[in-house]
This record gives sequence, structure tokens and C-alpha cells, in this order.
Amino acid sequence: MPAEGTGMRVAVVGAGVTGLAATKCCLDEGLEPTCFEQSQDIGGLWRYTEHIEAGRPSLYPSVISNTSKEMSAFSDFPFPEHFPVFLPNALLLDYLRRYAERFGLRERIRFGTTVVSIRKRPDFATTGQWNVVTEAGGKQTSDIFDAVMVCTGNFSEPSLPLQCFPGIERFRGQYFHSRQYKHPDVFQGKRVLVVGMGNSGVDIAVEASRVAAKVSISTTRGAWLFSRVSEHGYPWDMVLNTRLMSLIKTNLPGPLAWWLINHKANQRFNHENYGLQPEKRLVSVAFPVCHGEGSK
Ligand SMILES: Cc1cc2nc3c(=O)[nH]c(=O)nc-3n(C[C@H](O)[C@H](O)[C@H](O)COP(=O)(O)OP(=O)(O)OC[C@H]3O[C@@H](n4cnc5c(N)ncnc54)[C@H](O)[C@@H]3O)c2cc1C
Ligand SMILES: *[C@@H]1O[C@H](CO)[C@@H](O)[C@H](O)[C@H]1NC(C)=O
Ligand SMILES: *[C@@H]1O[C@H](CO)[C@@H](O)[C@H](O)[C@H]1NC(C)=O
Repeated sequence: MPAEGTGMRVAVVGAGVTGLAATKCCLDEGLEPTCFEQSQDIGGLWRYTEHIEAGRPSLYPSVISNTSKEMSAFSDFPFPEHFPVFLPNALLLDYLRRYAERFGLRERIRFGTTVVSIRKRPDFATTGQWNVVTEAGGKQTSDIFDAVMVCTGNFSEPSLPLQCFPGIERFRGQYFHSRQYKHPDVFQGKRVLVVGMGNSGVDIAVEASRVAAKVSISTTRGAWLFSRVSEHGYPWDMVLNTRLMSLIKTNLPGPLAWWLINHKANQRFNHENYGLQPEKRLVSVAFPVCHGEGSK
């Protein structure tokens, strides 16, 4: 391993949002980060490609952030003034490119390099060092690092539990995971069932509804529907993530917190009328779905 300086050598795995921030923070602390990115560019999830790459999440072109630029910015690197409050995926990537440029991160990244194993060295008990094996162009290399930060993301493997759909093998229509979804034209004139109403499910159902013959959404638990634009025109995450709200969330007894959310959510939109009302005991898992104003 070539000596890169006097600081501790840190291997950062992945150059998405997390890996970029980790690399930057290592530099801030005088450490010597080397970031390994299996693909050819930064951005991770936020780099849209028409072609789906193994090991990297896949977006559909219409993805817009569900968190506002104010709440999503790195604390020392605000989004440009002229960017909209909620960000089309290409602008989020643009922001990450500016971040990498501003803090000189690119020269720290080895592109086209996959980390294939991370093991403690035999003398780990005294040195705390790791053996990191990477693969690039079919060739494996082993390096020693003092620390490793795994920033590989969480959305590159689709969860498609076909065993929950008995008889699916006889279904003559098409079925696929949202990871495979790119454009609504695949739904032209079709009857479509969207299973699950997280952010992707709702986005895709809305897009499909413009071209399909009929669209239904199925949800077992219901979901709170929030608009991206909240009280007084502020982004929803600025209204909900305040000191007061966090005090309420951590100190109110569960049923009371549930009642508050329920009251708030149903002021704008009666969930009962649409069969969406989440069950009481599930308050902790029903996270808001952003929808409507600001999504286009
Ligand atoms: C549709 C969708 C919308 C989302 N919207 C928002 C939002 O609006 N706001 C928000 O805050 N969050 C959102 N998220 C969450 C999202 O996960 C984070 O915003 C962020 O992209 C996570 O970054 P990451 O760096 O952890 O992972 P990723 O962006 O997945 O990056 C991981 C990187 O690691 C690389 N990698 C993986 N394995 C290896 C390996 N073995 N060796 C080398 N490199 C490797 C990959 O190629 C990739 O570049 C959304 C997620 C999805 C799926
Ligand atoms: C992704 O997150 C889910 C839910 O927190 C977790 O169960 C799963 O193990 C994670 N997967 C990876 C690859 O980190
Ligand atoms: C934003 O959307 C992603 C993808 O659906 C989801 O994982 C995440 O929880 C959402 N964030 C919020 C705060 O709703």
C-alpha cells in the first residue's frame, strides 16, 4: 500500500451520499481516506441511469426528493439558492458533484473498484488494522487500513416476496419490482395493481393512472398521506422536525402521540374515506408518504 501521508488510513466503501460525506469528514480530521466505488461515477442512488446496474439502486426518471433541500443539505454546504425546495434526482446529483468538487473528493475515489472482502488482520488486537481486498478490471489487490467505513447503501437488492402471492406462476400478465420501473408507457391501456403504498408505490400509481385503463393500490397497513408542502407553505419536514415535535414524539404516551398525528393527518384528508387509515398499534411504522403539490 503506497504511503499516503501521516494520518490514519481509512477505507471508505461506496461513493454515494454517505461515502462522500465520510470521505470529506476524514479529510477534515486529517485522516487519509481512500474511497472505493464499484461504478464509474459518484452519486450512488442519485445517479439515474436508464440501464439498471447490479449493486446500485435504480431510480425512475421522475423521482423527486421527499425531504426538502433545507433539511437534506450537508450542514456546511447549502444547496444553491436557485434550486427548488424538493429536488428532481438530477439536481440532487448536481449538488453532490458540487460537493465533491468543493472538497476535492474525486482524487480520493478509486472508480471501477469493488470491495470484495474486509477482514481483521492477524495482529488486529494490537494494531486495529484491516485487510481490504478490492477488485478492479478482474485483478484483486489487498491493502491495509486502520479503519473502514461501509457506505454501501440499502436499496440495491429488490425485495420481491413471490411466495406471498400463491398462484403467481400461473398469472399471465407482467409483474415486476419498482427497481425495474422506468417509464409509465409499460402500463398503457392495462389494468394495474400496485402492491404497497410507500413513496415509490404512490409515485408509480399516479404516473400509471395517466395511461392505464385502471389502477388500484393495495396496502395492508394503511399509510398517512402528507403533502410535501405543509402549514404556511413550509416543507413538511421543516414543520415536523422541530425541537417541539421531537419533545412531543419522545415524551407523549404512545396513544396520545398517535392521536395527535391522526388528528393532523386527517385535517387535510380523511383517510377513513379512502380505506387508508393506519391501525393504532402500528403508529411507529406508518411513515408519511409525500404526495401531491410539489411532486411535479
Ligand atoms: C426512490 C428513493 C428515494 C429516496 N429519496 C430520499 C430523499 O428524498 N431524501 C433522503 O434523505 N433519502 C432518500 N432516499 C434514501 C437514500 O437511500 C439516501 O438519500 C441516500 O442516497 C443513501 O446514500 P448512500 O451513500 O448510503 O447509498 P447509495 O446511494 O446506495 O450509495 C452506495 C454506493 O456504494 C457503492 N457500492 C456498493 N457496494 C460496493 C462495494 N462492495 N464496493 C464498492 N462500492 C460499492 C454503490 O455503487 C453506490 O455508489 C431515497 C431512497 C430511494 C430508494
Ligand atoms: C436494509 O434495511 C433493512 C431495514 O432496516 C434491514 O432489514 C436490511 O438488513 C438492510 N439491508 C442492507 C443490505 O443493509
Ligand atoms: C423517502 O423515500 C424513500 C424511498 O421510498 C424512503 O425510504 C424514505 O423513508 C422516505 N423518507 C421520508 C422521510 O419519508
